[in-house]
Amino acid sequence: MTSNHVVFFDTTLRDGEQSPGCSMTTQEKLTMAHALEDLGVDIIEAGFAMASEGDFAAIATITQAVRKPRIASLARAMTEDIEMAGRALQFADRARIHVFLASSDLHLEYKLKMSRQEALDRTAESVRLARSLVDDVEFSPEDATRSDRDFLVEMVRVAVQAGATTINMPDTVGYSTPEEYGRMFAEVRERVPAIDAEGIVLSSHCHDDLGLAVANSLAAITAGARQVECTINGIGERAGNAALEEIAAALYVRGDRFGISTNIKLENLYATSQVLGQIITFRPSPNKAIVGDNAFAHESGIHQHGMLANPLCYEIMTPALVGVAKTHLVLGKHSGRAALRHRLEQLGFTLTREELQHTYYRFVALADRKKNIYDQDLIGVVPDQIREKRREPVSELD
Ligand code: KIV
Ligand code: ZN
Repeated sequence: MTSNHVVFFDTTLRDGEQSPGCSMTTQEKLTMAHALEDLGVDIIEAGFAMASEGDFAAIATITQAVRKPRIASLARAMTEDIEMAGRALQFADRARIHVFLASSDLHLEYKLKMSRQEALDRTAESVRLARSLVDDVEFSPEDATRSDRDFLVEMVRVAVQAGATTINMPDTVGYSTPEEYGRMFAEVRERVPAIDAEGIVLSSHCHDDLGLAVANSLAAITAGARQVECTINGIGERAGNAALEEIAAALYVRGDRFGISTNIKLENLYATSQVLGQIITFRPSPNKAIVGDNAFAHESGIHQHGMLANPLCYEIMTPALVGVAKTHLVLGKHSGRAALRHRLEQLGFTLTREELQHTYYRFVALADRKKNIYDQDLIGVVPDQIREKRREPVSELD
């Protein structure tokens, strides 16, 4: 029977770093690794040891400073890569070598110029070599979702026989749909009985080229994947990887649907996203789920009125759940009198109905001209005679 616990494999420092504007120094990777440890990530893919001296150094440094999560290095199915990964990981308490080799004919023919039989032989040799160095080996048939299904099954079988402990089936180019991706997991699991019999963990790894990375990851979990690979803020090659914060929040908020436990400390999600945003050259877009600036902001009058009456009207989770300080009622031209009165009360102004009406007209006229309305702007639209009667504000000015 499959457990109901999913482990988080974070690849912000490897796949995430492979995207433009995201490269990190060893020190920056270490800062991020500490944040991921605090977040409760189970496995950190710290880099690709063979890729550069910097990556090697970052992996080695992280293994000595970050002890709770397992630390992984990526390696191509090549002796030099695997041995290099083994050296970078030699001081880790718990190490993983992550070996990958393409399984799609497209990649084998055009990129690797390798026959299917050669790929199977290479899979067996590489996984065996990795297993001689560490006891935890992940194998990824790259481009799994565009591979001939019989050949994919064969490659997975060979990797398991050679000693792989985790089988990751990546949607390398973000081509799959949730239904299709879930079916692939169910089929491979059924056709390679050793997976369940020997407790081999199946893993998802999704890219977001069609905006389906998180949906596909959740479909894989539903079909039995018990490891999910993802990145903070969804950074990664091209359109990015599946966003860790979205998967973790979805599993929690829709616990009724998934029934899955994780080790992720949801209240650290926002802080971790902020740490990454400060290290790389960009932050998540404002409308990014969970961690974007507007994820808990409400501007329209109808929504603000509902929020003030009962936050459940327009929020499916509290901001505190994911570590965001508070809901933000943004005052703009779509806002109504209820939100304006609420904010003015906080700023120390108690208005009669007529005074509010008058202030509201002045506010809308200003909001029509100005994109961002700050507290100082609000104080400016309050008529002079009311401003003189101001009480002590209950919250800071922004
Ligand atoms: O997207 C991919 O296929 C990868 C593999 C190396 C796992 O990142
Ligand atoms: Zn990837």
